[in-house]
Amino acid sequence: MTSPRDPDDIRRNPTSAPHFREVAATMLSRRAVLAAGAMTPLAFLAGGALARNTAPDAGMLADTPPFGFAEIPHGMDADLHVPEGYQAQVLLRWGDPLLPGAPAFDPKTQTGETQRQQFGYNCDFTAFLPLPLGSDNPGRGLLCVNHEFIDPVLMHPVPAATPAARRTQAEIEMAAVGHSVVEIRRTAAGSWQLVPDSRYHRRFEALSTVYRLSGPAAGHSRMRTQADPSGTLVRGMLGNCAGGVTPWGTVLTCEENFNFFFSGKTDAEPVNHQRFGVGTDSRYAWGAVDARFDLAQEPLEPNRYGWVVEIDPYDPDSVPVKRTALGRAKHECANTALCRDGRVAVYSGDDQYFEFVYKFVTEGRYDPRDRRANRDLLDAGILYVARFNADQTLDWLPLVFGVGPLTPANGFYSQADVVIEARRAGTLVGATPMDRPEDLEISPRTGRVYVILTKNDRRTAAGINPANPRADNRFGQIVEIIPDGDDHAAVRGKWDFLLLGGDPRQAGDKAQSHPQTSANGWLACPDNGAFDNKGRLWVTTDGAAEAAGFADALYACITDGPWRGYSRQFCRMPVGAEATGPCFTPDDRTLFLSVQHPGQDSDTYAVPKTRWPDFQPDLPPRPSVVAIVKKDGGVIGG
Ligand code: FEO
Ligand code: CA
Ligand code: CA
Repeated sequence: MTSPRDPDDIRRNPTSAPHFREVAATMLSRRAVLAAGAMTPLAFLAGGALARNTAPDAGMLADTPPFGFAEIPHGMDADLHVPEGYQAQVLLRWGDPLLPGAPAFDPKTQTGETQRQQFGYNCDFTAFLPLPLGSDNPGRGLLCVNHEFIDPVLMHPVPAATPAARRTQAEIEMAAVGHSVVEIRRTAAGSWQLVPDSRYHRRFEALSTVYRLSGPAAGHSRMRTQADPSGTLVRGMLGNCAGGVTPWGTVLTCEENFNFFFSGKTDAEPVNHQRFGVGTDSRYAWGAVDARFDLAQEPLEPNRYGWVVEIDPYDPDSVPVKRTALGRAKHECANTALCRDGRVAVYSGDDQYFEFVYKFVTEGRYDPRDRRANRDLLDAGILYVARFNADQTLDWLPLVFGVGPLTPANGFYSQADVVIEARRAGTLVGATPMDRPEDLEISPRTGRVYVILTKNDRRTAAGINPANPRADNRFGQIVEIIPDGDDHAAVRGKWDFLLLGGDPRQAGDKAQSHPQTSANGWLACPDNGAFDNKGRLWVTTDGAAEAAGFADALYACITDGPWRGYSRQFCRMPVGAEATGPCFTPDDRTLFLSVQHPGQDSDTYAVPKTRWPDFQPDLPPRPSVVAIVKKDGGVIGG
């Protein structure tokens, strides 16, 4: 999420990269390269010390980019735009009835109870899990969708004037965040529809859903509250941004800006709470009506958020689990890859200025023949944090109690303390502070990992490091990681830039992209990503309006071959909206995309910046998931 008014770009990490002085010389030479602005094709392809191009597809050897769609231009208006020959069906809108008996959406009569049965607000990550389980059916499946946060101005027709109205509005908001699981199918005509009254339809929210804590922090004294003396059961999941899907068909949904939901003051956990902005970056008024969100009453409640949560959408009776072994952060995503020996690696970014990139490697191995055997794989393993070195190598540094500085001398008494304060642990071991690490995506063609970094306009010239080479970085970058031995369990790797956002025609932007990227194809503020089966990386943006003056959009990018670093604009958002959660069906013939916060930063409910997607005078803009198809039924992107 980004808005000019949002406080999520605040620096919480007090230190710079510890290795800054050692690498200053290298940075100077890199800056010289970047300062050259637009690079020649040869210079770009030779841009690093690594051999980074795998054998390209025949299509990628052509002298035109391997896409079959006409580019959408940069711009900004009230509507959503897709290329000629494509259509975007609005599949799921905020308030659409999901559970059996759910009422039709009416913002004037909304309550927590009605919202709890309807599609939530500010949709983000989407995952398509085919039905039946284990198939690659492209025409029927479970669409799993995050609901990250709320916008009270655009949700409630009138401001709350009484305590009762304030409570109702807070309950609507609590019921509007979390996650939805929806069974959908493709009709013979090629459009998508909800399966009515499916037993799989499900809402996860912060009003009534109970989540189990597992792993090293479960039950620890720092996780206990008056409402939950066991420290193992949480009523709520907050800030669910991006996520991932496990090889055994569960969804990992990530708690990001949980601190926004807490208000009040406490003297408890001063260092921990400060590092997460708890008590200082409050945005919502839930604490006035519910003790859980009032720091004065429940000072440890925030420790129960900031986790990766595992949901089994195939089992409607399953209890969602917060997996604490993966560490507590403002997790953007959690994408999995199989290691050579069958263990599972989970990559995650911590989306805040100067925070870190994480990887968790399970202790046990994935069992493809027995789904239940994988049920608690994510409870034991090693959590690592990334250090990007000046020689374009990478080290994964273990965050293990008792190893290095993670000892009682620094306030760590167990692995529970390490995972609860993963950020502080990362600083102590020397992780590299990044420019808002959002999504990490793994190429199905090459196994390389792409770290999508949105921006960091608070990085100074003295604070740059090799992987974050621009001061006042308003445009973001995408960094490629090649694990040593092509093994995701490796504790070392190599890294390089895929691209640096910004206008390559403006030397001051210090952008880096393929030289034939068009005037409408360069991107600002990359955020989420998804690979298609051809190995093309589709990247959404968050914050382009502020950085570059045009709307956020979805771009298709090439990661290897002669067109490496090329991007082309595919779908542009309505004003105020951020593009999030791109996801393909297994046949690449449908692309799901979340249109998050259309009309954001409108001053009043009565006069929003857009009324997308309904454009009805009595309806506000509604965050929605669209299903994009090619009218002739072909593969998205050609
Ligand atoms: Fe929710 Fe990091 O965007
Ligand atoms: Ca974002
Ligand atoms: Ca995001």
